[in-house]
Amino acid sequence: MRDVAVIGVGMTSFGELWRTPLRSLWAEAAIAALGDAGVDRVDLVTIGCMSSGLFTGQEHLASLLADELGMAGVPAARVESACASGGLAVRAGFAEIAAGLAEVVLVTGVEKMTDVDGADATYALGTAADAEWEGFHGVTFPGLYAMLARVHMQRFGTTREQLARVAVKNHANGLLNRHAQYHLKVSVADVLESTLVADPLRLLDCSPVTDGAAALVLTTVERARELAAGKPVVRITGSGLATDTVSLANRGDLAELGAVRLAGERAYAMAGRTPDDIHLAEVHDCFTIAEIMATEALGFFAAGDGGPAVEKGLTDLGGRIPVNTSGGLKSKGHPVGATGVAQVIEIVSQLRGDAGQRQVEGARVGMAQNMGGSGGSSVVHILEVV
Ligand code: COA
Repeated sequence: MRDVAVIGVGMTSFGELWRTPLRSLWAEAAIAALGDAGVDRVDLVTIGCMSSGLFTGQEHLASLLADELGMAGVPAARVESACASGGLAVRAGFAEIAAGLAEVVLVTGVEKMTDVDGADATYALGTAADAEWEGFHGVTFPGLYAMLARVHMQRFGTTREQLARVAVKNHANGLLNRHAQYHLKVSVADVLESTLVADPLRLLDCSPVTDGAAALVLTTVERARELAAGKPVVRITGSGLATDTVSLANRGDLAELGAVRLAGERAYAMAGRTPDDIHLAEVHDCFTIAEIMATEALGFFAAGDGGPAVEKGLTDLGGRIPVNTSGGLKSKGHPVGATGVAQVIEIVSQLRGDAGQRQVEGARVGMAQNMGGSGGSSVVHILEVV
């Protein structure tokens, strides 16, 4: 297997971008990443997108978007794993370079979610749940994560305030990220007083509905060293992918995210790393409870300690292991297909020392964890400065 490096990153601002069509959002991110990498030819384009058909009426994205970039003829493939589609696009590009099938890959993720109204967006997102056992009965993602939160609270004593602390931290980080959808300082009281969405989750416990695109350029570490021009070379040292039951009814234990644990274990094994080696992580905080459960599944904290950890500030910027320095899905926004790619961009920026006011000093090993649905799939990457 060949060593794989990230040599370019680019993303749009995330938000409600009504004036920009999906293809233009995507091209903006792709061109920025190609420019950052200093390349204009690629062997493959991968595209993570959950549901462009339901959100915009457009399928057949791979060919459409390669053509948008004047690259018709280049191999292009769209991959889908619900909200983990972006992470899967990273893994697909990583695998092609590692296997020697491609030298340079443009990895992208995109979602345009605000062209439909809230009810239609909720329906589109809900297709990532089990249609027969969950969707048919009217359960939506806030409802599914509310059930996970209830079990976690009952099993471990996780408190409503600890959930709120995740939102307070991530909104504080998002204030430092110019790409974030919300530049909003919130307090624990703000979260606790925000509109109830699905008990115990409130508006400020939820990630928003978002438009956005993100892109990376990958190549071999060897080629990256030639192109680096003094910049640190960031290698993807671990990649893990795992599945779990889509329906919560079939899941063995609702207090843990099994796919996240398995994907994390696979990424740690490939990289030869342990949780103690990770200096910072972007995790999939689609709801505040998801961040707490992900930090436990990835081994940063023992089961049940994720809530107290966020309360003690261990995951703050400057804490023992900063989590979601970008603002996370909560504040930066969650254009579902783009999220997994944007998470890797944050880690690369941190490892290059380019993260500005939210820079984690001495960061050399970072992790990005992306998740589909209520944990039915997860993709984890470990990145390191080499
Ligand atoms: N965080 C912070 N503020 C939010 C927000 C969020 N998640 N969602 C909406 N807002 C704000 C809006 O900016 C708006 O503010 P304004 O009145 O100052 O303009 C206000 O709240 C109302 O926005 P609106 O779009 O009408 O909210 P909504 O009730 O239609 O949607 C949610 C709110 C939480 C239901 C929606 O964001 C949602 O479904 N989130 C979850 C998305 C999801 O499931 N993703 C997949 C995860 S697996």
